[in-house]
Amino acid sequence: MGLVDELAEEGKLREGAIAFAKKVVAENRPLKKVREMNDKVEAARGKPEIFENFRKANARKFRGFLAPEYNIQCIEAAVNLPFEEGIKVEQKLFRELVTGTQSAAQRHVFFAERQVWKLPDVPADTPIIPVKKVGIIGAGTMGGGIAMNFLNTGFPVTIVETKQDALDRGIATIRRNYENSAKKGRFPMEEVEKRMGLLTGSLDMNDLADCDLVIEAVFENMDIKKDVFGKLDKIVKQGAILATNTSALNIDEIATAVKRPEAVIGLHFFSPANVMRLLEVVRADKTSNEVIATSMQIAKKIGKIAALVGVCPGFVGNRILAQRQREAQKLIMEGAMPWDVDRVLYDFGLPMGPFAMSDLAGLDIGWSKEKSKGETLRDRLCEMDRRGQKTGAGYYDYDENRNAKPSPVVEKMILDYAAEKGINRRTISDDEILERCIYPMINEGAKILEEGKAIRSSDIDIVWINGYGFPVYRGGPMFYGDTVGADKVLAKMKEFQAKMGDDFKPAALLEKIVAEGKRFGDY
Ligand SMILES: NC(=O)c1ccc[n+]([C@@H]2O[C@H](COP(=O)([O-])OP(=O)(O)OC[C@H]3O[C@@H](n4cnc5c(N)ncnc54)[C@H](O)[C@@H]3O)[C@@H](O)[C@H]2O)c1
Repeated sequence: MGLVDELAEEGKLREGAIAFAKKVVAENRPLKKVREMNDKVEAARGKPEIFENFRKANARKFRGFLAPEYNIQCIEAAVNLPFEEGIKVEQKLFRELVTGTQSAAQRHVFFAERQVWKLPDVPADTPIIPVKKVGIIGAGTMGGGIAMNFLNTGFPVTIVETKQDALDRGIATIRRNYENSAKKGRFPMEEVEKRMGLLTGSLDMNDLADCDLVIEAVFENMDIKKDVFGKLDKIVKQGAILATNTSALNIDEIATAVKRPEAVIGLHFFSPANVMRLLEVVRADKTSNEVIATSMQIAKKIGKIAALVGVCPGFVGNRILAQRQREAQKLIMEGAMPWDVDRVLYDFGLPMGPFAMSDLAGLDIGWSKEKSKGETLRDRLCEMDRRGQKTGAGYYDYDENRNAKPSPVVEKMILDYAAEKGINRRTISDDEILERCIYPMINEGAKILEEGKAIRSSDIDIVWINGYGFPVYRGGPMFYGDTVGADKVLAKMKEFQAKMGDDFKPAALLEKIVAEGKRFGDY
């Protein structure tokens, strides 16, 4: 590429450099200035397609980020302009980036990722429980994915199911995932056997007796979970960690099923558990420091980024998500269409909007045909067998390649539904969609902080960036709140509250931050 003039022999850099300098002098070579090396840039001049093709090829990766685009513009300037002018373009764009919000946001995330491991009330010298063997209960979507995290890093895992076919299915899925990765060249085929060799399947919970860490990932049902924990309490050796992957159940209540509540903790993985980086480590009332410190360390070992959070409905991530989901549903009743809401949030930088997300996850999660009374839009969609991507239709229509198209059927359904409920639909601006979806999330984040359910506002940002794809260049919801200004967020919440009620009631901490002229980042 012309970046290097000469290679020195290994270990002989100094001699090589001196010899090279002497050669340059002896040959009376002119001083070579980079600005005069034009052969490569001239070759690219007048070929804008080089840049367009590069932009297109990387559009997904670069979406929303200013820096990669500005880099391309700098190179375009280098190709098309004289050196002095090119340098000016570079300076201007660089200065804009380095003083801009995106750069500040990404620096914030860099430090937030380091802060998140620091636990103010768990002393650094807290003893760590040696974890050598891991047990997992339930080989479904989550259990299998969780198991892979441990197998990938060399932990022997025993996975327990109730029925042979469920166990076989779970193990086969893990194997298939590994084989697919190996086929894609991520690791050699032998690695598949090595990892599978660490996995033991069982139908007997007694096989978990000597595990140091057991993670429960059975159905989301309190009675079943308590029953499982009651059994674990009798089986698993003392000193082991008993973790639950529940998404929303009260872990303090789960802990009442055992005689050693200090051993119980939430390890909330995100789906797909072998891919998503986030782990919410959920501390219950009685969880011991040893169990917390060990859980954080294990998270690091298996390559996760862990945030320590407290017990509350939905913990930190899903509790904040619930705010957005509620507003999204209200917006489509009041005048927007699902694809309007999705477009605004996608353009904001999220990987997808709430309705595309529901279609991907399946609208029938937690829905049953028998109990459905057509009361909600979702009931009606599911009753029509529009259950999301898997049925070729949900909020959107899907073609055979799963490309989404706005659905006239859904549009009519929404209009009919709103009419039935006597809702006068109106035009809703993109700004309102964004503010109504995002500001209540920030407000909920403030409530979480005032209740002490997250340690610091940057932890909330970490949760949302790593668990939900909140754009890194916006720094997470709380940093974004500071970018907008807590005062503006508060003013909007009050305006919405006056018009639409207490869904928008400002958090006490939000009021306090504004009154004291502080930032979310101060908490
Ligand atoms: N799916 C997600 O996106 C997600 C994300 C985070 C957390 N979670 C939580 O993870 C847990 C599991 O969810 P999932 O999506 O993997 O469910 P799933 O239905 O795919 O799997 C649950 C598995 O547990 C097995 N099981 C049930 N009772 C059992 C018992 N007593 N002993 C052993 N195995 C038993 C079932 O046979 C089934 O295979 C739930 O608490 C859920 O809320 C799910």
